[in-house]
Amino acid sequence: MKIINFGSINIDHVYSVPHFVQPGETLASHSYQTFAGGKGLNQSVAIARAGAEVLHAGKIGTDGEWLRKDLDKAGVDTSNIEIEDKIPTGHAIIQVLSEGQRENCILLFGGANQSIQSSEIDDVLAQTKSGDIILLQNEINAVSEIIEKSYKKGLRIVLNPAPFDSEIRNLPLDKIDILILNETEGEGLTNHRDPQTIVDDLAKKLPDCTVILTLGEHGVMCRDKTELIKIPAKEVEVVDTTAAGDTFIGYFVAEISQGTELEQALITATQAAAICVTRRGAAVSIPTRAEVTNAI
Ligand code: ATP
Ligand code: RIB
Repeated sequence: MKIINFGSINIDHVYSVPHFVQPGETLASHSYQTFAGGKGLNQSVAIARAGAEVLHAGKIGTDGEWLRKDLDKAGVDTSNIEIEDKIPTGHAIIQVLSEGQRENCILLFGGANQSIQSSEIDDVLAQTKSGDIILLQNEINAVSEIIEKSYKKGLRIVLNPAPFDSEIRNLPLDKIDILILNETEGEGLTNHRDPQTIVDDLAKKLPDCTVILTLGEHGVMCRDKTELIKIPAKEVEVVDTTAAGDTFIGYFVAEISQGTELEQALITATQAAAICVTRRGAAVSIPTRAEVTNAI
């Protein structure tokens, strides 16, 4: 079973700051680093580090060749990454706190991620067959079209509706097999804040979907037709939570593609995400399979 991740590729500009910059304020940062990022890229790297095969489809500008090389090095199939001549690669400006970094602030520029054409979607989906997994996030255009076309081909559709915007509510969510979201996205979709109420509400609206709600340091809650599973987060020293969700999703998708049962897949993904938050950066902070196995 093939995994296709149709997703974003970003250059992350990460600034370490004493506090998040306020309206009207000019703030000096303590340090600056550039990393490979984007929810799509991070999730592909996590799938590859977990030991599964993944084909990444997406777009970069001419300034983003190094990101493709990074994906190659991680073992991701990059043959479906197109270069857009006139549009720069997507980027993110990320503020992380110098002390006690439990949160970050992210400003996104979509760039080439937002220039995907219908013909490119058709070319990618022509390489798939029924039963393959397609993974999507909300940092590229045409998510709705990709869901509709993937559904027609009989693919298993995994959606991470992040970052949340009001368009998410208009997606054909009834065609999603697995929805993986955090509390912000859960609230955006249900207008509820309580995790149990969020998963119950989504399970009622989407009876054929497995709903996985990640809860940061509180772990994860998963609900499908037959069961409710709760896995606590590992207690670790947090350095930077960027890409925790992406690490969780990549490991989870890799596990289910290999036939691992739901609860075990959630446990492994939780362990991988716990290692990610102990390190700075996005893709670079995603652990290898050996690191995850040794930590369990
Ligand atoms: P991000 O946007 O920071 O990548 P997210 O908001 O998508 O993350 P979270 O729910 O914050 O997702 O985290 C995903 C998973 O990462 C959690 O379910 C948990 O397993 C792990 N995790 C996150 N924060 C912590 C933490 N402080 N300690 C241990 N594990 C954590
Ligand atoms: O989930 C983390 C990612 O979100 C970062 O790598 C950044 O590029 C933003 O897309």
